Amino acid sequence: MISRRTKIVATLGPASSSPEVLEKMIVAGLDVARLNFSHGAPDEHRARAQLVRDIAAKHGRFVALLGDLQGPKIRIAKFTNKRIELAEGDSFRFSVTHPRDAGTQEVVGIDYPDLVKDCSVGDELLLDDGRVVMRVDSATADELHCTVLIGGPLSDNKGINRRGGGLTAPALTAKDKADIKLAAEMDLDYLAVSFPRDAADMELARRLRDEAGSSAWLIAKIERAEAVADDEALDGLIRASDGVMVARGDLGVEIGDAELVGIQKKIILHARRNNKIVITATQMMESMIQNPMPTRAEVSDVANAVLDYTDAVMLSAESAAGEYPIEAIKAMARVCVGAEKHPTSIKSGHRLGQSFERSDESTALAAMYTANHFPGVKAIISLTESGYTPLIMSRIRSSVPIFAFSPHRETQARVAMFRGVQTIPFDPAALPADKVSQSAVDELLKRNIVNVGDWVILTKGDTYHGTGGTNTMKILRVGDSLS
Ligand code: G6P
Ligand code: MG
Repeated sequence: MISRRTKIVATLGPASSSPEVLEKMIVAGLDVARLNFSHGAPDEHRARAQLVRDIAAKHGRFVALLGDLQGPKIRIAKFTNKRIELAEGDSFRFSVTHPRDAGTQEVVGIDYPDLVKDCSVGDELLLDDGRVVMRVDSATADELHCTVLIGGPLSDNKGINRRGGGLTAPALTAKDKADIKLAAEMDLDYLAVSFPRDAADMELARRLRDEAGSSAWLIAKIERAEAVADDEALDGLIRASDGVMVARGDLGVEIGDAELVGIQKKIILHARRNNKIVITATQMMESMIQNPMPTRAEVSDVANAVLDYTDAVMLSAESAAGEYPIEAIKAMARVCVGAEKHPTSIKSGHRLGQSFERSDESTALAAMYTANHFPGVKAIISLTESGYTPLIMSRIRSSVPIFAFSPHRETQARVAMFRGVQTIPFDPAALPADKVSQSAVDELLKRNIVNVGDWVILTKGDTYHGTGGTNTMKILRVGDSLS
């Protein structure tokens, strides 16, 4: 049994699509495979998803699949010669009418009709994730005239952000809508929405997901300055989602790297208080694209997210296109386990002083309070339909493992994202009611997770079907005859 609690998401790409590499990644601890819809054809994603499911099944592992929508990233068009070199002080223009494939040293086209409307004189524009910076000096009806503040190379289709945010393209493009259908067809477990501005963007994604017949949980990528402008905006977006991703690439560019660490901590805290999942992402072990070892700073960064109590840490280019995808997973796993030993990750003040809203929530949190204060408790069994009961449990800091007992494939995969939760396939409805507790505890005994004399907590509802019904917590002693 794996003792690591923090989960590992890794992006699949050319470096991680062969069965051999993928198998080693899964054995090394991959919990969630991310399919990046910004790159690759539908057939490539289908093949990767199938491979992940086959290999996971072969090893008795439960690996979730996350599809990440490309979203409306605003990009410049192309240059006649693919790339230019800008120096500090140069003049440069962005034009909504300039031919799309004929950028020059002075001007480039841009596919964003509202550019002039959304920018004002004095604004700073960041290109290529902030590597090139310009200031807006003046505007015409279809062009922005700028001065280069930080120069460097600029090539075809690089992204553009405004410092402070506010470039407001709608969150779901035609390609995203097609990819939501693809995600439904592939039965993906999670769907990440890029650049949502507010709850309405997530509600639209949810409607399209439902129409497509998918049950994927929706992750809002927090990557616009507007999303973190105040608590109301952030909490609105969190509540409209099943989970969030601290998407540090674009967010860092818009709000500045200095603010990012504090904002990361806030997003993680707010997500957990709202009973939602949180993933910390982007450039976590960036140097491992070329090196077999992370830097001390990267180790610190991953450990910091673990101490903040993120559900998952994520690999991007490290696993998709780097030279050391397997080593990157091993390094993350090692760092997570090390950071989890820190005593601050055992005690919790989670929601002390707050009220609960639901009976299942109250039962789940009562179970955790007991588990954290009764040292004899070695495991928690949560009978669950959707994963919701163990999700609430796992919002609290604890060192007691939580086991999601569920008969459903979707739920078994989904909980692979939850911190401290593992799944055991189990169908209480197939058993006589007075045999459920005994059979559930026997599953843990069989796997050597508990021993005779240990205590176990079990939660369930009055019926064995339907989500939201958890209303019972039992404290059971392993070895007693249970009913
Ligand atoms: C299973 C149990 C029920 C419980 C339910 C909770 O179906 O057998 O007794 O009420 O899970 O499911 P949830 O999705 O709310 O965690
Ligand atoms: Mg992004």
